[in-house]
Amino acid sequence: MSPTPGSGEHEKHNRVFWNADAHDYQAAHGARLDEAPLAWGAWFIPENKLHVLGDVAGLDVLEFGCGAAQWSRALAALGARPVGLDQSHVQLGYADSALPLVCASGEAVPLRDASFDIVFCDHGAMSFCEPEITVAEATRLLRPGGLLAFCLSSFVKWLTDDDNGSTRKLQRGWFRTHEITWPDGVAEFQLPYGDWISLLHRNRFEIENLIHLRAPKHAETTYTEFVDYRWSRRWPAEEIWTARKTR
Ligand SMILES: C[S@@+](CC[C@H](N)C(=O)[O-])C[C@H]1O[C@@H](n2cnc3c(N)ncnc32)[C@H](O)[C@@H]1O
Repeated sequence: MSPTPGSGEHEKHNRVFWNADAHDYQAAHGARLDEAPLAWGAWFIPENKLHVLGDVAGLDVLEFGCGAAQWSRALAALGARPVGLDQSHVQLGYADSALPLVCASGEAVPLRDASFDIVFCDHGAMSFCEPEITVAEATRLLRPGGLLAFCLSSFVKWLTDDDNGSTRKLQRGWFRTHEITWPDGVAEFQLPYGDWISLLHRNRFEIENLIHLRAPKHAETTYTEFVDYRWSRRWPAEEIWTARKTR
């Protein structure tokens, strides 16, 4: 683990937050993530239902903002060669130390060009970094034909969240609020759909899918402060983009 701290204000905010919060975060969610590691988002929707990553055997995979890298551990068991990257050394301290782990920001990844077949995250660097920078990093890190997949808070949740969580009213405008610093200090990013499409195209990606996640019937979450069940049955609280690097 070679620490390469990001120097942007939001990177500093998020590093301070996650280093301080990691013990509570893993106490609240770690057991569930360990138990269901190949599952997306707050409702733990299994990868084998969504088929976002597909067959990973023999592939080089970067988990881009990995926390305790539960995904990476499970992907290694499926024959992938994962690398877990996170800028919080405390979060990484919970990861399996047999995995290759990199302590760095998603905005300045100290890894070689064209060294991955998949770059993905589940509420990781694509949520907590500047998208203009992370999408360019993903292009640099992927081989031609490689897959970028990221799950993040949905744009409708972004528009309707107030400081206490999801509401049923618009709380902010569609335009010009692509970064929010929440009261707990976390800086988060999201873009309107057209802006994601244009950013991905400019960075040589062809978009394959945009999946709106719905809480499965009777599902339970450990992320109760993030969203409640009734809201997530009516609207997607999370969405997953998949895009393929063309050349
Ligand atoms: C909500 S956790 C999700 C991690 C993991 N997918 C999970 O489900 O536990 C978000 C992670 O993003 C990491 N993160 C925040 N800013 C980052 C950055 N600039 N670069 C890399 N990772 C970052 C945090 O340290 C944290 O571990």
